[in-house]
Amino acid sequence: MAEVIWGLATSHVPSIGAAMDRGKTEDPNWKGLFDGYAPARAWLAEHKPDVAIVIYNDHANGIDLDIVPTFGIGTAERYQVADEGFGKRPVPDVVGDPDLSLHLLEQLVDEGFDLTVFQELDVDHGFTVPLSVWTPDPGEAWPCPVIPLLVNVIQYPQPTAARCYALGQALGRAIAAYPEDVKVAILGTGGMSHQLAGARAGFINPDFDAMFLEAIEKDPAKLTALSREDYIREAGSEGIEMIMWLIMRGAMNDQVTKVHSHYFVPASNTAAAIALFDNREPEPA
Ligand code: DHB
Ligand code: FE
Repeated sequence: MAEVIWGLATSHVPSIGAAMDRGKTEDPNWKGLFDGYAPARAWLAEHKPDVAIVIYNDHANGIDLDIVPTFGIGTAERYQVADEGFGKRPVPDVVGDPDLSLHLLEQLVDEGFDLTVFQELDVDHGFTVPLSVWTPDPGEAWPCPVIPLLVNVIQYPQPTAARCYALGQALGRAIAAYPEDVKVAILGTGGMSHQLAGARAGFINPDFDAMFLEAIEKDPAKLTALSREDYIREAGSEGIEMIMWLIMRGAMNDQVTKVHSHYFVPASNTAAAIALFDNREPEPA
């Protein structure tokens, strides 16, 4: 039986990947962010999964804006890294796991989540930056096969936070029903508060971010009660990406153990965070 061993929530700001690719992680503007990753990366290096699921949004790089599925899943053998206009990032392409993808697809459709199927997909910073946050030096290949699970957070009407959490719960059941004995990691990506354009460009809300970071661990119901308009008002038009963390959280146990979290402002002109949760039952005291 497959088991979710950990969940990592992380921002996917493209300049985090660019800073790594250009060797700027010790630069004074960046050091504080990358130093905050160190304890999580050390723990993750000791807890390697067999397969990972990255819950993310494309930013009109792999999917045209005239067709934006609410939820989707990749079923490919491989995913190429997208060229977002500056050439491809110097990171490995992604090996998929079609067997697990098709199992999850079937189970989720049976539960009423009618996912769009991506037999081909180029993955953008929403996907590759979280992989780099997890694995800064992948060498020739990422540590394991990875499955993309896509969410529309860029065009109205985005799915509700409650629907995202319910999808996560169904995802958790689907993973538990997979007959192979594999350890699964889940990455929930995007956020924290940010707005890239318009009158509130540069908007950051540390109070909302702090509330969200606390509640994602201990009280996700507080976050599922918020509407999409609440997210956009409190976290900015792109801060609504945080609803993707709720899919990760829904796939985990009610009680999780926080390994590490870190909040940093600014990464470019956004708030950024990581939060790492161990999903294994705590050892009896
Ligand atoms: C930027 C892009 C993103 O997709 C995001 O989530 C945060 C920041 C950017 O271009 O700076
Ligand atoms: Fe984004």
